[in-house]
Amino acid sequence: MASRIAIIGAGPSGLAVLRAFESARQKGAEVPEMICYEKQSNWGGLWNYTWRTGLDEFGEPVHGSMYRYLWSNGPKECLEFADYSFEEHFGRPIPSYPPRAVLHDYIAGRVEKSGVRKYVKFNHAVRDVAYDAATDTFSVTVTDLVAGTRRTDVFDYVFVANGHFSTPNVPYFEGIDRFLGRVMHAHDFRCADEFAGKHVLMIGSSYSAEDIGTQCHKYGAKKITFSYRTRPMAFAWPEGFEEKPLLTRVDGSTCHFQDGSSVDDVDAIIFCTGYLNHYPFLPDELKLRTKTRLYPPNLYKGIFWLQNQKLMYIGAQDQYYTFNMFDSQAWYARDVVLGRLALPAQAEQEADAASWLESEEALEDPFQAIDFQTDYVRDLLNATDYPRLDVDKVSELFKQWEHHKVEGILTYRNRSYPSTITGVMAPVHHTLWMDALDDSLETFLNQPDQQQAAE
Ligand SMILES: Cc1cc2nc3c(=O)[nH]c(=O)nc-3n(C[C@H](O)[C@H](O)[C@H](O)COP(=O)(O)OP(=O)(O)OC[C@H]3O[C@@H](n4cnc5c(N)ncnc54)[C@H](O)[C@@H]3O)c2cc1C
Ligand SMILES: NC(=O)c1ccc[n+]([C@@H]2O[C@H](COP(=O)([O-])OP(=O)(O)OC[C@H]3O[C@@H](n4cnc5c(N)ncnc54)[C@H](OP(=O)(O)O)[C@@H]3O)[C@@H](O)[C@H]2O)c1
Repeated sequence: MASRIAIIGAGPSGLAVLRAFESARQKGAEVPEMICYEKQSNWGGLWNYTWRTGLDEFGEPVHGSMYRYLWSNGPKECLEFADYSFEEHFGRPIPSYPPRAVLHDYIAGRVEKSGVRKYVKFNHAVRDVAYDAATDTFSVTVTDLVAGTRRTDVFDYVFVANGHFSTPNVPYFEGIDRFLGRVMHAHDFRCADEFAGKHVLMIGSSYSAEDIGTQCHKYGAKKITFSYRTRPMAFAWPEGFEEKPLLTRVDGSTCHFQDGSSVDDVDAIIFCTGYLNHYPFLPDELKLRTKTRLYPPNLYKGIFWLQNQKLMYIGAQDQYYTFNMFDSQAWYARDVVLGRLALPAQAEQEADAASWLESEEALEDPFQAIDFQTDYVRDLLNATDYPRLDVDKVSELFKQWEHHKVEGILTYRNRSYPSTITGVMAPVHHTLWMDALDDSLETFLNQPDQQQAAE
């Protein structure tokens, strides 16, 4: 097989593709030549923290949306790789809600071990992808950001894995241009300390609002006001938090809401209004156009572009499942590329995608949404040799997690869950999350009880 594949992005999705092909190669399969283009200088995608905001040192839009003190917002047991457990990486069980650096270490550990770094061209930004029907190939144009040069290479397959939580969605509110305090999007939020003693308004009622709001509270903010468009988060917020309907108008440092109420003396407004799916390097006929959703349109199996199945999207959906879902997609796509799995006729693919979309549109609550994504991952896993992942157990953990958040939005990260891969229960972290101000890997892993047990 003399084919070539391009992978755009070396975040968890792109790395899943590299790992999938490398795993087949190590088992004796002949696999295509792979080049993964990554515009940052290291891998890990969003998990590769950057202090930069706006444009980077090359004038490129900064990809990173993660911030200091970010801890996993779901149990690590729900994202564990079936072929590389946390215990294998860290040499012992670790608590269930790790901070960002620990998860980056885990993601990187698996790919370092499998030796795929040689396939990644770092500091290379993909600029353009063009399909040529005559040769049935893609021309991929990239800029080497260090050398400042551009080149075009030809590939048989393209994996789009550039992530979709990086280009901010920023609506306008009347008077915000004259607001007297700081205005930013969650994408540019880096450090909660600057909001100590301040009154911060978060617009949005999803994960970023919840997490940045609770984090600002943890690091000393005076007051957090949330403003929702569709529905409130409705957690049993402790003192210092308040939920309001949608912001209608800003007047100096006073913010007015749809129910006629207002809050005064707001110091900062943080837009936690989500992200745009953004594929500036793709031509119109290959470009996914979607809002953030569990089943984006026009993708067979949530992966294959319906008008050209040699273009594949990994991780394009909204995410309960993350790392192991990207694996399930990468293993499936790999097997199609290797000719181990055949794609059905076009009409069947379209009907299949339409049926998933219809089910997705009927979902009524997070529990049904978890079941939906569980079924999606199961469907992919059943077709490949990815090591056994008990998605029913993962689904059960997600549902427990939802309950635990309702029981205590500031305490759920103190919980522990069993690994679905090894069956071992995670230890309780040495410090309650609200008291754990140091989120370094060293401090998190410094579990006194664990060390004694291991010695
Ligand atoms: C603030 C925040 C917190 C999150 N926390 C969690 C969490 O706790 N648990 C969890 O499971 N998930 C979390 N997520 C979800 C996150 O989407 C996934 O964990 C994961 O990072 C997605 O991987 P990805 O590879 O698809 O995308 P990304 O991680 O976004 O990686 C995409 C990569 O593509 C590169 N790239 C982009 N454009 C180009 C280009 N033109 N050329 C070359 N390279 C390019 C980027 O530099 C990046 O390295 C969080 C997301 C956000 C925004
Ligand atoms: N610690 C962590 O692990 C952590 C922290 C933050 C984020 N994340 C991850 O980051 C990803 C993105 O989360 P997100 O919260 O940024 O995005 P999101 O889940 O897409 O939510 C976007 C929010 O913005 C609101 N919104 C959109 N447009 C609006 C408008 N014009 N006016 C008012 N509100 C508007 C939406 O309201 P509607 O409900 O009305 O649509 C929704 O509440 C998720 O995968 C999440 O898990 C993780």
